[in-house]
Amino acid sequence: MTLPLANLPRHVAIIMDGNGRWAKKRLLPRYAGHTAGTETVRKVVQFCTEIGIECLTLFAFSSENWRRPEREVGMLMDLFLNALQREANRLHKNNVQLRIIGERSAFPQKLQDKIQQVEELTASNTGLKLRVAANYGGRWDLVQAFQKLALQAQAGLLNPQNMTANSLAEHLALNDLPEPDLFIRTGGERRISNFLLWQLAYTELYFTEVLWPDFDRENFQLALQDFASRQRRFGRTGDQVEQNKTC
Ligand code: FPP
Repeated sequence: MTLPLANLPRHVAIIMDGNGRWAKKRLLPRYAGHTAGTETVRKVVQFCTEIGIECLTLFAFSSENWRRPEREVGMLMDLFLNALQREANRLHKNNVQLRIIGERSAFPQKLQDKIQQVEELTASNTGLKLRVAANYGGRWDLVQAFQKLALQAQAGLLNPQNMTANSLAEHLALNDLPEPDLFIRTGGERRISNFLLWQLAYTELYFTEVLWPDFDRENFQLALQDFASRQRRFGRTGDQVEQNKTC
């Protein structure tokens, strides 16, 4: 399969769904699915680095995932901690800059400390910008941005009349990255599930039945090829877009 190298997305955002079903199909406990999913994360990061994707944002744990059985939540926390411990040096060596987006204060202290340590280690790296959304929700992101704007207005630093979409976007997670060009959701569901609600406004959406632990290079390439075939109009007509190409 050939890669559409000329029309690669700069930023890919992924909902990694299907770990539980992958395990169930094999009569394994759910944690085995999450463990296999972690391996897919490693491979996808590697692939993005190789082909020159600039930014990758992964949804690892949503604000709503606390509703899962306590044992599964605890297991996911351990898994994140282990993955950070194991992968930190490899990420750094591959020039990856890792940041976690989301409300991290709810995580065990040990995990918070590790996150900070890996973020600091990789902060100056200039390769793939990897963002992992953990205890993240699109509504949470918007609310915390509104709160910051409201505080500025209250302090007299911002006139509400002058507020623009950009004023809000400046306070959102991912404010340092271009908006995602391509969104992928594995596992067959066709929902955004409170992921990057604001940032996905013009993103091309791609859904696949493949369960996250089975999502391999070939599946990723199919998504990239599908993306390359889309015409992105951003509100303009198709003819306008075609004309701009030839100018
Ligand atoms: C959704 O599958 C997956 C999660 C809630 C956890 C995602 C975590 C990983 C892929 C592992 C580690 C990630 C990092 C960044 C180290 P599900 O459990 O909802 O699957 P199901 O819909 O089949 O039950």
